[in-house]
Amino acid sequence: MTSFLTPPLQPLRIVFDSIGESVEPAGPVLTRRMSSLEGLFAAEELRLAAVEAGDPVVYTVASSPVPELPRELPQSITTIQPGDLDGELYMTKGHQHPDPQGEIYLCLRGEGGLLTFDGTTTSWIELTPGAIGYMPPGWAHRSVNTGSEPYQFLAVYPGSAGHDYGWVIENGMGERIFRSPTGVVRRPFGITGGLR
Ligand SMILES: [Fe+2]
Repeated sequence: MTSFLTPPLQPLRIVFDSIGESVEPAGPVLTRRMSSLEGLFAAEELRLAAVEAGDPVVYTVASSPVPELPRELPQSITTIQPGDLDGELYMTKGHQHPDPQGEIYLCLRGEGGLLTFDGTTTSWIELTPGAIGYMPPGWAHRSVNTGSEPYQFLAVYPGSAGHDYGWVIENGMGERIFRSPTGVVRRPFGITGGLR
């Protein structure tokens, strides 16, 4: 694994390999398996069963080497695998920026969506290749794969924004995203169990 570059940086050409799910030059790569998503799905007992059954990768985040420092603009590509637990679609942990700043996600591949929550209001934005989802400052965000193929997006974010995953554990996201026979369904966050 390559780590972040040390400032001052030189202008840089960065290539994202959508199929290989890699970045060149490479920065840190994060792999989130089912075992690292405790307490995030409504069906916690099914998550535990999935961990026992082989602990599948739910998503990866491959970053460029641009460091997470003030005034820098780091980038990463996230690839979420298709799947669900009792209908609740595979998703990222979701986070809030401790230093409230905006961020963009550009969809590269697959079908998915961006769930955002400001503590009161929930917003859902469907994304397909070429579409950009924008998160204003103060909106926690989580990505969801709503399709049957890997869902991939490029994130560009302020280097000093930070990642607070505990905020989502504490406050939830307002809604959960499920698949159903008729398509994608948004349901209140507090539900237990899924759609059968
Ligand atoms: Fe973010």
